[in-house]
Amino acid sequence: MTILYPDLESSVAAVPGVYAPQQDSQLLIEAMTIFGAVPGRRVVDLCTGSGVIAISAAQLGADSVTAFDICPKAVRCAADNAEEAGVGVETRLGTWGDALAAGPFDLVVSNPPYVPTSPDAHLEEISAEVGPSTAWNAGVDGRQVLNPLCDSAAEFLSNNGTMLIVQSEFSDTDQSLSRLRSAGLDADVVLRQVIPFGPVLSARASWMERIGMLPAGRREEEIVVIRAEKR
Ligand SMILES: C[S@@+](CC[C@H](N)C(=O)[O-])C[C@H]1O[C@@H](n2cnc3c(N)ncnc32)[C@H](O)[C@@H]1O
Repeated sequence: MTILYPDLESSVAAVPGVYAPQQDSQLLIEAMTIFGAVPGRRVVDLCTGSGVIAISAAQLGADSVTAFDICPKAVRCAADNAEEAGVGVETRLGTWGDALAAGPFDLVVSNPPYVPTSPDAHLEEISAEVGPSTAWNAGVDGRQVLNPLCDSAAEFLSNNGTMLIVQSEFSDTDQSLSRLRSAGLDADVVLRQVIPFGPVLSARASWMERIGMLPAGRREEEIVVIRAEKR
């Protein structure tokens, strides 16, 4: 078991085969704390993994928290972690799309898979400790989940509801903003952080350079949190 972010109110553990919380998880928690207006709101965490975001929402005073993931191991891990943290989180096995039927919600938070994925990704040797590839692989442009998530934002949210999503610059931040605005929401980047490449992007850097996605020799990425509001 890997304990990460001991600085969080309660440490959250990821079991093998479940995405271990990383800088993107932490940035989303920071945004939720600063901009999420969590207390008293009905929250859904899409793509919950270890449940780290959902548990933080509960600790921040959400009225209710529901958490979805397609991976049974992740759902069990999130449920165990919530119990250990002593907070109420309803964990459900299902896609982000299944969550639509459970809504609308006042706050939607998500750290979805968003890493651009080369056709040769199956040949990469990435340590199993990082988690399963389904946690990050998101098609050649990294937008396999981001696109439908942004397009469905208005349907997910109650009036005056908020969506907070984290992604990388390499999965086209502007496209998320434009899709959210087209869905009728006010959308802006509210937090940014530049971080060094982790094991997944390091394994993909040459391919990204070849297709012109990454300037030669650069080995850092900007991750951002987008906040979208339904008026
Ligand atoms: C990047 S991890 C984020 C985990 C956690 N929220 C965090 O921030 O540490 C993405 C998670 O999305 C899940 N996932 C992938 N595709 C999904 C989908 N279509 N619907 C719901 N969950 C999905 C994966 O199983 C994985 O647990």
